[in-house]
Amino acid sequence: MRILVTGGAGFIGSALVRRLIEHTDHEVLVFDKLTYAGVLSSLEPVAASNRYSFVQADICDADAVSKALHAFKPDVVAHLAAESHVDRSIDGPGEFIQTNMVGTFVMLNQTLGYWRDLPDADKAAFRFHHISTDEVFGSLGEDGFFSETTPYDPRSPYSASKAGSDHLVRAWGHTYGLPVLVTNCSNNYGPYHFPEKLIPLIIIRALNGEPLPVYGDGSNVRDWLFVDDHARALQAVFETGAPGETYNVGGNAEKQNIEVVTTICAILDRLRPKANGQYADQITYVTDRPGHDQRYAIDASKIRADLDWTPSVTFEQGIEQTVAWYLGNQSWWQDILDARYSTQRLGVAANG
Ligand code: NAD
Ligand code: DAU
Repeated sequence: MRILVTGGAGFIGSALVRRLIEHTDHEVLVFDKLTYAGVLSSLEPVAASNRYSFVQADICDADAVSKALHAFKPDVVAHLAAESHVDRSIDGPGEFIQTNMVGTFVMLNQTLGYWRDLPDADKAAFRFHHISTDEVFGSLGEDGFFSETTPYDPRSPYSASKAGSDHLVRAWGHTYGLPVLVTNCSNNYGPYHFPEKLIPLIIIRALNGEPLPVYGDGSNVRDWLFVDDHARALQAVFETGAPGETYNVGGNAEKQNIEVVTTICAILDRLRPKANGQYADQITYVTDRPGHDQRYAIDASKIRADLDWTPSVTFEQGIEQTVAWYLGNQSWWQDILDARYSTQRLGVAANG
């Protein structure tokens, strides 16, 4: 297969590309603007492959998208490019509307033009796979799970822009017959995760002897999925999923934020003991995120039953590997800290 991956220099996109080059015969074109979140060094392990190529461009640029489609001739578009951080969407929602909604519209419209000109067999085999989030479903109380039929109820500028993009993708499927797939996934973690997100931020700040910020009372719950398991799910969906379908993807690993933070501290106490005290001494409760969703949890029974996908690692295994990766790959994250973002608090825009 020939797979065009938008956002392939990001956290999940680069995990998908590394997987496709290292474990399949597929050819990959990464289409990425290289925003603050695009990190080319995350693609270094596969950059020398003759099945890998890269173009730096914006998904909002219709000409650039059309040119890449017609030159590369993909069988699959795996659309991951997005603004992805909730806290940044609170500080500056405009970029989220532009990239996540307008950019997805441009991707759909240009892909439709490309797809319509394909020979019939290629047309039938083609897939536009939109990678989305469980945050479109809103927030859960203590019980229940998000399924594929849960009504949309997004609450942050980020999740609203992703919900809008999901609707656009389904509309292009229903109205124009474009063979679309949508996946809605829970919180990913693992190597090459940008340090604005909870897990890498806590690891790095712990190692730097800085306060470990826990929003609110730390009781918010997220379902955590190791990023390589997500990449494997994405591959299963675009290779064998039924066009027009949605699949929820989750790790079956619900944790309160405070549990995640104390687990990281305990692993660091073992792998990199401090001279004095324990890493948990650095935990600091800080002002809550405005509009903070309380709980996300995924019912992933459809992808398990239909595509035989389940997570391959537990949270305990995955978090141990992740902490070890950050200890062994300081140059990857130090470059980001030096040039792009140094783990300062984001998303505290005043209410009202
Ligand atoms: P990320 O922020 O790490 O990477 C985003 C990538 O998209 C970057 O390489 C960036 O340069 C690129 N990009 C941004 N705007 C662009 C534009 N206008 N044109 C071209 N490229 C652009 O994001 P991620 O965490 O890897 O998430 C990837 C996708 O998966 C997103 O669509 C996100 O909504 C979704 N998702 C993420 C998670 C998660 O836990 N991280 C969970 C579920 C779904
Ligand atoms: O659920 C899927 C979503 O997961 C994806 O769609 C998003 O792209 C991804 O960023 C992630 O969103 P979250 O907002 O859940 O992730 P984040 O790492 O920002 O925060 C995880 C939890 O930790 C959340 O409840 C807020 C909290 N938090 C976060 C940071 C950065 C803290 O307590 N302290 C922090 O410093």
